[in-house]
Amino acid sequence: MKSIIAIDGPAGAGKSTIAKSLAEALNYLYIDTGAMYRAVAYQALQQQAPLDDAERLGQLAAQANIDMRAENGENRILLNGYDVTKEIRLPQVSAVASAVSALPQVREQLVPKQRELAARGRAVLDGRDIGTVVLPQADCKIYLTASLDERAERRYKELLARGLEADLAEVRRDIEQRDYQDTHRETSPLRQADDAVYLDTTGLSIEQVLAKVLQLAEAAE
Ligand code: DC
Repeated sequence: MKSIIAIDGPAGAGKSTIAKSLAEALNYLYIDTGAMYRAVAYQALQQQAPLDDAERLGQLAAQANIDMRAENGENRILLNGYDVTKEIRLPQVSAVASAVSALPQVREQLVPKQRELAARGRAVLDGRDIGTVVLPQADCKIYLTASLDERAERRYKELLARGLEADLAEVRRDIEQRDYQDTHRETSPLRQADDAVYLDTTGLSIEQVLAKVLQLAEAAE
């Protein structure tokens, strides 16, 4: 497969920041697969769909028209024509996204969409199972992580910067719970692909991580 970069890792590791900057630097398409699960979760919350109704959630995923577009350096997410970029980042949506993403019925719908988006090549995808399940033939695979404390701190600052209220201890608990769910689910759990490069970003700045990731991407081409 031509020029596909897969970045996987736990919540708050900085995947989307790095994937977006990397895509910009290489002039690649950035595909935020977490946003797709978040969009389905948002839709489920809107419709008050019971989270244990896997068939209904699978149908929601099948019918969801999810579009991504870069606008002024920001990745906008459109769900059935509506801009839900901000809404899908709310903490209550994060928790539901982790729950709906554990359902095979939902993954069955979203994974082909992700492969379709990547089929043109020259794309950076971030998520949990890109290097292991979605695109195991990716040219460059990176497993991006950082200590739980640092990830919680980063996510906390991100929420504050967006003007949202947040509590550090609560953010840390949410991330820890999501990590547990994402690594222990039966279908496509988060794990490092055997051929992925492990990158611990604890204590590193965004610029430092980007420089490393660029090196890895360039070496893989
Ligand atoms: O990366 P994120 O925090 O936006 O992802 C939201 C949730 O979606 C996350 O808890 C796990 C799930 N997810 C997944 O299961 N597979 C992916 N490829 C991306 C995200």
